[in-house]
Amino acid sequence: MLNVENLSKQFTLHQQGGVQIPVIQNLSFSVDHGETVAITGPSGRGKSSLLKLIYGSYIATSGSIQILHEPDWLEATQLAPRQMMEVRNKTIGYVTQFLRVIPRIPTLDIVAEPLINRGVNVSDALLRAQHLLTKLNVPEKLWSLSPMTFSGGEQQRVNIARGFAAHHPLLLLDEPTAALDAENRSRVMGLIREARANGSAILAVFHNEEERHQVCDRDIAL
Ligand SMILES: Nc1ncnc2c1ncn2[C@@H]1O[C@H](COP(=O)(O)OP(=O)(O)O)[C@@H](O)[C@H]1O
Ligand SMILES: [Mg+2]
Repeated sequence: MLNVENLSKQFTLHQQGGVQIPVIQNLSFSVDHGETVAITGPSGRGKSSLLKLIYGSYIATSGSIQILHEPDWLEATQLAPRQMMEVRNKTIGYVTQFLRVIPRIPTLDIVAEPLINRGVNVSDALLRAQHLLTKLNVPEKLWSLSPMTFSGGEQQRVNIARGFAAHHPLLLLDEPTAALDAENRSRVMGLIREARANGSAILAVFHNEEERHQVCDRDIAL
């Protein structure tokens, strides 16, 4: 599903005398369908940057990132922005620790949007959104509100519901449970297992070791 070869990334801080920060060097690995792989390493080692490179938010300095966007293998480092949008719509799901909150858009619509973008009819998409929000204990009275004013944990659960609404052949998870209590963390573990059982290839950074051991098949240490 994902094939990374000799990937390197270094940041150049143009505003600060052109200082160069090498973050990832000659990294190679693959992730198969139905496999959950953890990225490990201390803070600042480049875990989030790696996920952003795969999602196309950062541009690689060198190397290759191949993604199976059915039925074709695409070189993600070479895609035009419009093609990358299509790959994100159909193939890659990305859940970060923080929700990018859009003012005025109700929670239910935020969660249903990835399904509607894929052509699922609106009422089915809303049903799936309701199911996920219920499962993640987001109170029904909040569904018609923008998550702008929600607590950190509530926003994170909206973000997770959105990330898991559609089936993504490739799922990138960046500390998805960091702000959650034990019960909600275990709900999220359940969603990850469900996605894996449905054949998703999952690449994830976990906030704690125990969660990592619960769901991951192997580690990539940075
Ligand atoms: N957009 C950026 N510009 C400059 N440096 C960055 C940028 N993003 C990340 N970095 C640097 O890359 C390193 C790795 O960051 P990150 O990928 O967030 O680490 P991790 O997720 O493992 O904690 C850090 O030193 C960070 O400062
Ligand atoms: Mg990080």
